[in-house]
Amino acid sequence: MHIALLPGDGIGPEVIAEARRVLEALALPGMVFEEAPVGGAAYKASGHPLPQATLDLAKRADAILFGAVGDPDCDALERHLRPEQAILGLRKELALFANLRPAKLFPELADASALRPEVASQIDMVIVRELNGDVYFGEKGMRTTAEGKREGYDIMSYNEDEVCRIARVGFETAMARGRKLCSVDKANVLETSQLWRDVVIETAKEFPEVELSHMYVDNAAMQLVRNPGQFDVIVTGNLFGDILSDQASMCAGSIGMLPSASLDSNQKGLYEPIHGSAPDIAGQGKANPLATILSAAMMLRYSLGQSEAADRIETAVARALAGGARSPDLGGTMNTREMGDAVLAAL
Ligand code: IPM
Ligand code: MG
Repeated sequence: MHIALLPGDGIGPEVIAEARRVLEALALPGMVFEEAPVGGAAYKASGHPLPQATLDLAKRADAILFGAVGDPDCDALERHLRPEQAILGLRKELALFANLRPAKLFPELADASALRPEVASQIDMVIVRELNGDVYFGEKGMRTTAEGKREGYDIMSYNEDEVCRIARVGFETAMARGRKLCSVDKANVLETSQLWRDVVIETAKEFPEVELSHMYVDNAAMQLVRNPGQFDVIVTGNLFGDILSDQASMCAGSIGMLPSASLDSNQKGLYEPIHGSAPDIAGQGKANPLATILSAAMMLRYSLGQSEAADRIETAVARALAGGARSPDLGGTMNTREMGDAVLAAL
């Protein structure tokens, strides 16, 4: 169990440190960590957000635990040197096309949700987000119009193989849960989405036991706050999944709570909290480490074959919350280290 630790920027190092302590406390034989810089931290150290040595380590490791990237100091750099390119590069280079973002309300956090407790308590879904295509990776650039105006462009596209492989992950995820899959698109406006919908419908033939529905993304955003309990598994493209998963996180209490797994076709994976580097609170001990600790649990389950250890971590997090552990995002005053301590004590 060779684990690459990529803490990155902002609160990344703080939350990764707590997840590492929890993993070490499990004392699983054969678990070794190797750390490398990524994002703005790597740019400042060596001139590139995803240095070759970091990429090599990520390829060599059995699994990757990732903090966050993003640094306001780097916002004026050329795009290919910005911190965000590190996570996009890792996703692409390692063919991590399937992003699983489970959103579930811990009952103790019903008060932290932006929704009424009786609505929030229904939330138990997985957002399956495609991660290697869409407008994120299409041709992009700046040009000048005939009138001499600056114009930015980003091409959105998906081919049928890309849609089919993520649709299958969506259906398989649904088969392992409540057998309901909602495909989210914007087929009333976008050709990319029309193909998406057609291919999802074709792929559904392989999964007759799953109840498939389709929703436009604007309606999905509305339904997520109106009646989030209706969703079991959502499958959607890269951009819509980015937006809807942030929204789902606040419905489920806090963006500081949501873990994620980004998987290739062999269950190799990169695990990260869905939140960003939060430069406004970096270095102050205010970050909630639970999303990263829960990401470590997903890593044990999906990539390292240690589902019992994963259960132990998830139970410990639930117990810590039941015991009153609350960071500022959850309405409390505990710092990052104290939140980690609470999980360790429950473990
Ligand atoms: C996420 C983040 C990233 C994304 C950024 C940091 C590039 O928002 O993982 O959701 O847009 O995918
Ligand atoms: Mg995001």
